[in-house]
Amino acid sequence: MQGILFDVDGILTDTAKFHFAAWSRLAQEKLQVELPVEFESNLKGVSRVDSLVRIMEYAGITDQYSLGQITALANEKNAYYVQAISQLTKADILPGIVAFLQELKEHDIPCAVASASKNAPLILKNLGLNSYFAVIADPAQVKHGKPAPDLFLAAAQKLQVPIQECVGIEDAVAGVAAIKAAGAVAVAVGDKIELQAADRVVSTTADLNYTSVNEAFRQSSS
Ligand code: BG6
Ligand code: MG
Repeated sequence: MQGILFDVDGILTDTAKFHFAAWSRLAQEKLQVELPVEFESNLKGVSRVDSLVRIMEYAGITDQYSLGQITALANEKNAYYVQAISQLTKADILPGIVAFLQELKEHDIPCAVASASKNAPLILKNLGLNSYFAVIADPAQVKHGKPAPDLFLAAAQKLQVPIQECVGIEDAVAGVAAIKAAGAVAVAVGDKIELQAADRVVSTTADLNYTSVNEAFRQSSS
């Protein structure tokens, strides 16, 4: 194991609630649609515009909006979301994450950010975690979002580590699919059934540590 590729939303901090609140407000105010709570997990790992398209498909209104209108709506949602995440601090880092990053640093394992979010740099800054990450893959520079492998491949390339030597850490079904499609080992945080495509699933971020992630790597790549 020579590199770790981290998802951000749901791994470093819990932003799904902010994404969902912003989408719910936009859907209600601009699309006259109520989103059911189950929709939250449907949007995990999915890019901003793809999330809006999923919401429009749910509402059955996909063909009523031009590309320009879709972009404007997505920007509006982002303004609500950025306002919410501007309040994030170190206290919002999920359990066990700092200890895990510290362990990786001690073992000289470089870390990359492989988040679908264009707001990932702002989130890292607010959480005070920048110094733990050697590189950030830019989601604006890749052709296909998760579940396509592009972001994880770009992250490994930027890290200059072969993808087969990397472990990706994810909480979303789309993200696990992306890690596997890229050819890295997938460690997922969350529900064992939902995330069964991963090589290892742990229940919470507090269960992430060097020994268990390295063991998952060795078992899966042998
Ligand atoms: C992912 C989130 O990390 O980033 C998704 O899980 C989100 O819910 C996506 O839609 C894009 O984020 P942003 O901040 O660029 O709108
Ligand atoms: Mg995530």
